[in-house]
Amino acid sequence: MDNNVKELDLDKTKVSRKTYGKLGYSTEQTSEIVEKMNGLLASFNVHYQKLRNFHWNVKGADFFDIHEKLEEQYNYAVEAIDVLAERIRVFGKTPLSTMREYLKASNIKESPSNLESDQMVSELLSDYRMLLEEMFDVLDVAIETGDSGTEDMVKGFIKQIEKNHWMFTAFSEKK
Ligand SMILES: [Fe+2]
Repeated sequence: MDNNVKELDLDKTKVSRKTYGKLGYSTEQTSEIVEKMNGLLASFNVHYQKLRNFHWNVKGADFFDIHEKLEEQYNYAVEAIDVLAERIRVFGKTPLSTMREYLKASNIKESPSNLESDQMVSELLSDYRMLLEEMFDVLDVAIETGDSGTEDMVKGFIKQIEKNHWMFTAFSEKK
């Protein structure tokens, strides 16, 4: 009887050592989350540079509105990008880190610098929709995996990007 109990305990230890990797998630589970997060990281970085581009190059009657609002947004983006990349490091994986990798993996495309202000706003609205789509993809996998840390992080991003989308939608309706 005692021997049986001992054998069961040993089996349990063996299974748990075999199944779980870092932080209680299997390598397979984290690799799907990391793949989605890296895609989002790439898009977020291209979007970030677009915010800088438009902040510098906007012209016309909307200059002060857009120039200032985009500074707020790229300051937020730079923080969010850092949190996202470091979440990938938490899983022991490597975040995409070069411009070449970002341009290749991003679902968001770069924009030229000579757009009219209303074209800039519509570019940004389309970026927000793409970022939200990718964020909800990360959220789905995080919930599926029971990864509360990533779930919490990405919900924060979603709230902010939804707010940006609302503000720029309202702004674009002013004319
Ligand atoms: Fe500036």
